Amino acid sequence: MGTSALDKKETTQKDFLPLEGTDYVEFYVGNAKQAAHYYMTAFGFQALAYAGPETGVKDRASYAIRQHKLTFVLTTPLRSKNPIADHIYRHGDGVKAISLRVQDATGAWEETTRRGARSYLEPTRLKDENGEVVMSGIHTYGDTVHLFIERQNYNGSFMPGYRPWSHPHFKPTDTGLQYVDHCVGNVGWNQMNPWVSFYENVMGFKNILTFDDADISTEYSALMSKVMSSGNGFVKFPINEPAEGKKKSQVEEYLEFYDGEGVQHVALATKDIVATVRDLMSRGVEFLKVPGTYYDDLIDRVGHIDEDLGPLKELGILVDRDNEGYLLQLFSKPVEDRPTLFFEIIQRKGAKSFGKGNFKALFEAIEREQEARGNL
Ligand code: FE2
Repeated sequence: MGTSALDKKETTQKDFLPLEGTDYVEFYVGNAKQAAHYYMTAFGFQALAYAGPETGVKDRASYAIRQHKLTFVLTTPLRSKNPIADHIYRHGDGVKAISLRVQDATGAWEETTRRGARSYLEPTRLKDENGEVVMSGIHTYGDTVHLFIERQNYNGSFMPGYRPWSHPHFKPTDTGLQYVDHCVGNVGWNQMNPWVSFYENVMGFKNILTFDDADISTEYSALMSKVMSSGNGFVKFPINEPAEGKKKSQVEEYLEFYDGEGVQHVALATKDIVATVRDLMSRGVEFLKVPGTYYDDLIDRVGHIDEDLGPLKELGILVDRDNEGYLLQLFSKPVEDRPTLFFEIIQRKGAKSFGKGNFKALFEAIEREQEARGNL
């Protein structure tokens, strides 16, 4: 089928789940007060809102923090024997909810559950003096959920149930992080295609890219990946599954330590990756390091780039090109003691892809870390 025919078909099909982007990412963590401090100090978020016993929420404490269009919520249980505590006992700290902004959270829930999604939260109206938020939710891979957030009739700091929160004396400068570029899920053996079908059938996403053994040399071919995108491209979810390689798959290591499927990394966009990464490093964020030889033939591989090679090499920033442009990216080490969730910092200069050309260099770096943990 020619591209023009495909485009025409896509534009005439109604998007039954129009998504306006990522509203927030919620993490279940062992100590939300300290985790919020870590993301503020190390990543440059600002205090935004707080929910807990003081605001009438009895079973948990949640801290909402924000940087530009990026909102994280750190949530911890206040007692044992509840689902949040069970989640942390099993998975360690990790992403619970990827929340998506919609105009109609009731419709989003009805459309997705009618197409086979398992309900997590029936449409719920939350009100306070600042207006109304409607929330609903469905399950996705593992214990992860998608919440649909309708907030056009709300003017408060974050959500009903929260009160504004700020530190009088602690306002760390931002690090230039702007919004969620994509969120990657790790799923089990032979589970990539079922979850691809889920995103296609239940949420109306399209498979826009595929990485498999043919793309990556077998020596390092430790995963397969398909990138799913919402109709308007605002929300992108690559789905990884482990693949047989000479060494144990990094996805398998994740599944073992997370004790199941879950979010592998959240990619955060910046407009100036050199400044952002330099800032993050100075605040103690740890990144994977590629060998210096990566830069020897970089320009031969990717062609002209606007950036000076020196700072990229100094900071270990990776570059890849596709037929629309190029991108710069760098991956953090896991941000908890289990080798599970990490972050990607990404700056796109036209490229809409995900750094396939860096897989080999990246796998080598990840495998050096895996080896150091004794998990290869
Ligand atoms: Fe990524």
